[in-house]
Amino acid sequence: MRFKFTLLLALILSVLLTDCSSTISDKLGYNIHKKAVSSMGMVVSAHPLASEVGTNILKQGGNAIDAAIAVQLALAVVYPAAGNIGGGGFMVFTDQKGQTVTLDFREKAPSAANRDLYLDSKGDVIEGLSTSSHLAVGVPGTVDGIFTIFEKYSKLKNFDLLIKPAIELAANGYKITAEEANDLNYSESEFKRLNKYAIPFVRSTAWKQGDVLKQTDLAETLQRIMNNGRSEFYEGKTAEMLVKCISENKGIITLDDLKKYKSVWRKPIAGHYRGYTILSMAPPSSGGVLLLQMLKMLEPYDLKTMGFQSKQYIHLLTEVQRRSYADRSVYLGDPAFVKIPVHQLLDSMYLLSRMRNFNPLRAIPSKLISAGTMPLPHESEETTHISIIDKDGNAVSITTTLNSSYGSNIVVNGAGFILNNEMDDFSIKPGNLNQYGLIGAEANAIQPGKRMLSSMTPTVVMKDGKIFAVVGSPGGSTIITTVLQVLVNLIDHKMDPYDAVQAGRFHSQWLPDKIYVENGLWSKQLTRQLEEMGHAIESRTDIGRVEAIVRNMDGTYIGIADKRGDDDVEVVK
Ligand code: GLY
Repeated sequence: MRFKFTLLLALILSVLLTDCSSTISDKLGYNIHKKAVSSMGMVVSAHPLASEVGTNILKQGGNAIDAAIAVQLALAVVYPAAGNIGGGGFMVFTDQKGQTVTLDFREKAPSAANRDLYLDSKGDVIEGLSTSSHLAVGVPGTVDGIFTIFEKYSKLKNFDLLIKPAIELAANGYKITAEEANDLNYSESEFKRLNKYAIPFVRSTAWKQGDVLKQTDLAETLQRIMNNGRSEFYEGKTAEMLVKCISENKGIITLDDLKKYKSVWRKPIAGHYRGYTILSMAPPSSGGVLLLQMLKMLEPYDLKTMGFQSKQYIHLLTEVQRRSYADRSVYLGDPAFVKIPVHQLLDSMYLLSRMRNFNPLRAIPSKLISAGTMPLPHESEETTHISIIDKDGNAVSITTTLNSSYGSNIVVNGAGFILNNEMDDFSIKPGNLNQYGLIGAEANAIQPGKRMLSSMTPTVVMKDGKIFAVVGSPGGSTIITTVLQVLVNLIDHKMDPYDAVQAGRFHSQWLPDKIYVENGLWSKQLTRQLEEMGHAIESRTDIGRVEAIVRNMDGTYIGIADKRGDDDVEVVK
């Protein structure tokens, strides 16, 4: 009797908790769904208004590509920290027949860029030049990416319909969340320093939750793009405004750089893990190669038996991550400029050999793992991900970014959009010869017209010819280990999809030789045990903000928005 009562209580509690964790109606009236199920299509993004815009497009008969364009444009308005038209990104698209293509709309170095752009006469890095100056801006790819996918895959064939919601949000304004108010207040001094004219992100009093942010210049820019198409951004008035803003402040992007920008269709990085097919982004993102390397190195081990977040499990993942990130630093860059041995990096024998010196009891110091001697460059974590599936089973996985939060903090005067600071993703001071004669990070050195190396990992996972998961995350260098852990949670630990996304995460990347762990995730005892094995542990704030869609056993899909932000799932019913 007592047992039955406890069971009933546990059942009621679990239902209550599930409901609480799935929908939050915040003070602004936004309905933030952390999980939702549908077979009619869904959108998961970093902002409830953007997810709603995308879902409305699906309801009007648009496909996943139509919705993705509308969401990308809406995020440029309602999530200016990372949503953008002045940045770039990558898309993995799997159509209803299971065919996958990927689009690279990554930014490029301007033609006047050179290897030593950010170094002084002594060869030292000039602090801030590659992050917070007009020289930090890469040639934006987002608008070209949007038109490229529209022309090839749009079902609605009506661009106006896709851009109008963004124009309205910019013109009429929207209520900012507490997190956005904090972010804007935090960035105020940089906004003021870099923009000597009025911009909508700065006002005389501090921002607070519920304040309305209107962006009239941005609304006009979007309107011009609606009227004139792609060429407005790359050759029209908007291009002229961008170049004027850059050139008046010692930047180097020219009209010719903009005119020449082109997105690139690329073959996905594809491979298998325990019967699942992983489809992810090829270089110039390191995401796909590293994700598959790590999965393949893990495959011989029984992770389920080791146990989620057990000492052995954390140790193994860390050793795998160490080896992959060491390879990243030496071999990966823009394939148009460097020969990347993708095939060899993913070769099973090579990966087995990488793990030959794995010691299940002791950490191997990073300096013994690779020829590289350079620490990996710091990567900013403010990026954003969009996962979409439509009723026909077309799936879009887009990760898009300005690099830092609000990119360079530069708003194009009169045009109202924020410019990226993606040039900082280059290796701005490639390493010296190391003891093995290799030059760390040379593959990612700056060259005119080159794309900077990325960690973005938009991914689609297939099982038995059907989409199993659509997943991605922001997080700079932590993106790849975030996506890895979500997949391992789903595939190895057989976690419920909601838990697989929300579970605590950790990250390591060869150098610095540390494991970063989300605050409070590990007990003191576990931390001590890992330290005894030779690991250095550092607690930190959230790692990643995942937007995921996972297929349920009954053929419906569940969307999961990361609890770490205002992220939201909207579904078609
Ligand atoms: N800017 C972050 C990345 O591309 O990985």
